[in-house]
Amino acid sequence: MPIESPTLNIIEGSKEIALTGEETYAAKSKRSGEAKKGKVYIESYGCQMNFADSEIVAAVVKTDGYSTTDSETDADVIFLNTCAIRENAEQKIHHRLQSLKPLKRKNPKLVVGVLGCMAERMKQSLFEQEKIVDLIAGPDAYRSIPQLIELAESGQKAANVFLSLEETYADITPVRREGVSAFLSIMRGCDNMCSFCVVPFTRGRERSRPFQTILDELKMLSDEGFKEVTLLGQNVNSYHDEAGKVNFAELMYRASLIDEKMRIRFTTSHPKDISDELVSVIAERPNLCKFIHLPVQSGSTRILQLMNRNHTREDYLKKIEMIQSKIPDCALSTDIIAGFCTETEDDHQETLSLLEQVRYDYAFTFIYSERPNTPAAKKLKDDIDEATKQRRLQEIVALTKRISAERYAESVGKVYEILIEGDSKRSSEMWMGRADNNRVAVFPKTGKEKTGDFVNVRITSSTAATLIGERVET
Ligand code: SAH
Ligand code: SF4
Ligand code: F3S
Repeated sequence: MPIESPTLNIIEGSKEIALTGEETYAAKSKRSGEAKKGKVYIESYGCQMNFADSEIVAAVVKTDGYSTTDSETDADVIFLNTCAIRENAEQKIHHRLQSLKPLKRKNPKLVVGVLGCMAERMKQSLFEQEKIVDLIAGPDAYRSIPQLIELAESGQKAANVFLSLEETYADITPVRREGVSAFLSIMRGCDNMCSFCVVPFTRGRERSRPFQTILDELKMLSDEGFKEVTLLGQNVNSYHDEAGKVNFAELMYRASLIDEKMRIRFTTSHPKDISDELVSVIAERPNLCKFIHLPVQSGSTRILQLMNRNHTREDYLKKIEMIQSKIPDCALSTDIIAGFCTETEDDHQETLSLLEQVRYDYAFTFIYSERPNTPAAKKLKDDIDEATKQRRLQEIVALTKRISAERYAESVGKVYEILIEGDSKRSSEMWMGRADNNRVAVFPKTGKEKTGDFVNVRITSSTAATLIGERVET
C-alpha cells in the first residue's frame, strides 16, 4: 500500500536539509529481510492515545526488521514516547533523559529518540537542550522512524516533526500486548482550540480513520480474544467518515454488532458535541459501556468562555440531564483544571457546586500549567499564585473523593457482571476486574474462573475507588 511521502529534516550540525522520499510498506518489509536489526525499547507517557501510538511504532520497527524488548539495558534503540500537556509531564522526560546517560556512556552507539507530543512541541530545540537525544519524531512521523534510526546510527541528528492532514496509520496493525483490553485509535489531532491546551499544536488537525478499517480491526481483536476495546480520539464526537457518511453514533452502533460479547468503551467526548443520538445508541446496545468521560474543566461559565470550551455551565448540565434521562445508571467521570487564569474564589465555588450536582464516579484533577504559545499563554496572565492553586486543587480532590465513596457505596448489594483483568494488586488470592460502568471490583478467587472471564459478583462493601464482593452464580 503506498504511503505518504515523508519529509525528513535532517540536521547536520547547523545545516538543515529537507529530503522527500517515497517508499511502500511492501518495499520496507522486503528491506527488513536483508539483515537482522537491533532491539528497540519503547517507554510511553501521557494519554491512552500515546500508548496506542507506541504500538504503531512497534509495528513500524518490527516490519523493518527490528525486534522490541522490555529491557532498556538490552536495547540498541531507546524511545521515550512523550507528553507535553503540563510542564511536569515534560520535566519527567528531562529527568528520564538524564537517567539514560550511564547507558549511553557504556554504549555510545545506543540511539536515544524522543517521540510524541513533547518532541513535536520542542522540535529541534530539544537537540540543543538535551545532548543525549539523537532522534526526534512527532506523532505523524512514525512511518519514517526506520530512516531516522539509520541516520542516527550514522552519527547524525535525525528529526521529523512534519504534521500531516491525512495520516491515520489506518493500514498499520498495532503490535499489542496480550491481554483483556485493547485501545483502538479512530481519529487523530484536534480542531478545538481550548485556550489552555497544547494538543492542537502537538497533534495537528483533526482527521478520522475510514470506518471500515475500524470495524475490520475490531473483528480482528475479537478473533484474537480481546474482551474489551476502547475507541480513542481527542474528541470522538466529531468522528466522521465522509465517504461512508458515518458519524460517531453510527460507528458505535456498527462496532457493537461485531461481537456482541465484546465491550466497547470510548474516550474522550467533548461536552459541546455529545449528541442525543450517541447516548440513545449507548442506551440501546448492551455491549456499549454505560460510562462516559465528559471533561468539564470548570463549573464557571466565565472561565469556560476564557477556556474557549464553547459551552456554558448550563449547557453542560443539560447534557448531563439528557444522559441521565436516557441511561439512568450511567457512570460519569470528568477532568477539572484548578487555578486557570483570573479564576476567582466564586468561580472555584461554582466548580465545587457543579461537582456536587453531577456526582461523578471519578474526577481527574489538575493544576493549571501554562503551555507556551497556546491561546491562553498569549492572551491571558497565569495570575493565580501556586498556594491558591494547590489549595483549590485540594478542596476539589477532597470533595470528589467524598462523592466517589458515596457513589461506590450505592453499589453495595448489587450484582455486577465483572470482566476479570487479573490478580488484585493487594493479593493473589483475589481477582480484579471492572463492571460495565468502569467501577473496579475485587473478589476472592473460587478456582473456577480465569483472566478474561465475565462473572457475576455481588458487591458486599466498598471504598472510594474499589468495590469488594463475592462471585455468585446466576
Ligand atoms: N481531548 C481531551 C483532553 C486531553 S488532555 C478532552 O478534551 O477532554 C486531558 C486533560 O488535561 C484535559 O481535559 C484537561 O483537564 C487537562 N489539561 C490540558 N491542558 C492543561 C493545562 N495546560 N494545564 C492543566 N491541565 C491541562
Ligand atoms: Fe485539548 Fe480541547 Fe482538543 Fe481536548 S478538545 S485535546 S482539551 S484542545
Ligand atoms: Fe499528552 Fe499528547 Fe496525550 S500532550 S495528553 S500525550 S495527546
